[in-house]
Amino acid sequence: MQKRPHVQGYTPGERALDVFEKPEAGSWTEAFGLPTTPVSLRDIHDPGFFELEKEAVFRRSWLYVGRVERLPRRGSYFTKELPFLGVSALIVRGLDDHIRAFHNACSHRGNKLVWSDDPDRETAGSCRQFACKYHGWRFDLEGDVAYVHNAPEFFDLDPAELALPRIHCEVWAGFVFINLLDEPRETLREFLTPTVERLEDFPFERMTEAWVCEGVVKANWKVFIDAYQELYHVPYVHSKMNDPKAQATGSDKVPFMVPRFLRFGRHRMYSSGGPTANSEVRSSRPLDALFRSSLYGPIDPPDVGPLGEGINPGRLERWGLDNWMLYPNFTIQVWGLGWYTVYEHWPIDVDSHRFILSMYFVPPRNGFERLSQEHTVNTVREFVLQDYGSCQTLQQAVSRNPRDRYFLNDQEVLVRHLHHCVVEDVERYRRERAQEGGAGDAR
Ligand code: FES
Ligand SMILES: [Fe+2]
Repeated sequence: MQKRPHVQGYTPGERALDVFEKPEAGSWTEAFGLPTTPVSLRDIHDPGFFELEKEAVFRRSWLYVGRVERLPRRGSYFTKELPFLGVSALIVRGLDDHIRAFHNACSHRGNKLVWSDDPDRETAGSCRQFACKYHGWRFDLEGDVAYVHNAPEFFDLDPAELALPRIHCEVWAGFVFINLLDEPRETLREFLTPTVERLEDFPFERMTEAWVCEGVVKANWKVFIDAYQELYHVPYVHSKMNDPKAQATGSDKVPFMVPRFLRFGRHRMYSSGGPTANSEVRSSRPLDALFRSSLYGPIDPPDVGPLGEGINPGRLERWGLDNWMLYPNFTIQVWGLGWYTVYEHWPIDVDSHRFILSMYFVPPRNGFERLSQEHTVNTVREFVLQDYGSCQTLQQAVSRNPRDRYFLNDQEVLVRHLHHCVVEDVERYRRERAQEGGAGDAR
């Protein structure tokens, strides 16, 4: 079958764009191919738009569901609940070491197959077979039915029909993704585009010490992503926590201005400055000096070897982090001090979402390293809580008193880009539905 490589691409032929320095003439916004006019934020408060967005964006994209470290051995599994799409996914490492995903529903009468304590909550574990709690049917790790209780009482059972329905599942750099389409429009690698290969040499596999926290944010999922797509808000939202000296970079004398942007397809990234390893702790927070640790991570990091050629693509002299925002709802933050963070934003409805923050370090070798890591974890959480607050107030105000024009500056180019791509996908979906004779409504 002929490949359709860039069906979902943002602008075919223009999928990758390195804009490391602000263009001398013009702007990043224009270099990204985006209009500079005010934008509508209808996409964050209109329930009708949300219904279309679920289908146009989430049901058609590759979605990150978890790290491979959660599936350490054959028989390891975890579930991922996506109630806004009506999906519970079961992700399993099979006896052949392959990672597969299935709809988490028993083939007998459709009961939820894998859950513990509370069926609404995700679960994880390890087993040889999955046993349904209702009538005891069992399924092997490849999803095939392995046991039917009192089978002779049934009529013409065909084992091929009884297998758990598969969900497309692929792994990139240890990140497990699923795709809910019957036939994905592109492979995971095509979806991520070649440019993201820059990131895959980062030693993610060394960083197995995981800290995970999550919560419900009363704001549209894009509103929270927007909060780390720019540093324009930092001096105000995080005024008590930041030391501008730690942020300013060699070529960029203005703190909290993003010095480097990059767009690749509908994904995007920026780099910004930060402290270098084994240096003096430059912070106004006394605990940072005590634990030799800050928002940027422990300042005496373990040696993890090269971070990969593609990291810090703008070659910032005092590089702190890369923020790789993968469409639609998944961000990898790679820190210069040798650790990384993952953000997931899962819609609940148009004005709330489930937020999952995961932080990964090399396992600490002693008590002090542990304390340094914990101090970073607590500091990141504190920052994130500040963003929670401003996202929720923004959502409330925009929902109650929407305008049709909001004003974005050139430092907010990634905010503009995300909303532009989502609206574009929804419009494309609407057109396709109309051509198929549908009304453009969610299916
Ligand atoms: S619904 Fe699972 S065995 Fe009956
Ligand atoms: Fe923030």
